[in-house]
Amino acid sequence: MHHRFEDAQAWAKVFDDPARDAWQQPDRVIAALELTPAMTVADIGAGTGYFTVRLARAVPAGRVIANDIEPDMVRYLKERAAREGLANIEVVHALPDDPKLPAGAVDRVLVVDVWHHLGDRVAYAKQLAAGLRAGGRIAVVDFKLDAKLGPPKQHRLAPDAIVADLRAAGLSAEVVPVELPEQYIVVGQRR
Ligand SMILES: C[S@@+](CC[C@H](N)C(=O)[O-])C[C@H]1O[C@@H](n2cnc3c(N)ncnc32)[C@H](O)[C@@H]1O
Repeated sequence: MHHRFEDAQAWAKVFDDPARDAWQQPDRVIAALELTPAMTVADIGAGTGYFTVRLARAVPAGRVIANDIEPDMVRYLKERAAREGLANIEVVHALPDDPKLPAGAVDRVLVVDVWHHLGDRVAYAKQLAAGLRAGGRIAVVDFKLDAKLGPPKQHRLAPDAIVADLRAAGLSAEVVPVELPEQYIVVGQRR
């Protein structure tokens, strides 16, 4: 189910549309991550960096590893980090089945509107889990089955399916009680 996101400049108009803030509520998503300033955070499928730059400001003494599989997104992310003076962003060109995270080094992983694009979701979750430190967490944000926005309904995933994916990867996992207008948040934790 690989859907391409090739033209970063064009997608930036969508992903970084100021109107997104009203339904995305990025501050509440980031609050759910319970960050501290020196953490290492990975933004998986970072796109044009909507969350990456907010995460980078939230961990001023830490770093953000922003990955994407699209070369043009990687280029755009690097340029955006430089333009916004955010030296704690490291951009990684990932593969569809390999996030290329350092082993056991990441405190938080954020995955927004990407889970439904993955092929073997459990195998991917295992790779993310291997990147976490003990106690580290993965937050998956995706569109509710009945959301007005988001991918076509046949591509959406129920939150329980994501809980199952994360548990199959050896994490404890649950849907967290943060009500976003269009999305749910599932958090998994490495024991
Ligand atoms: C809908 S966009 C979301 C972008 C960003 N997370 C946001 O919330 O603005 C999905 C992004 O995930 C990327 N992507 C899809 N599959 C991926 C994978 N297996 N690993 C990393 N990135 C992926 C796409 O290239 C695209 O940039």
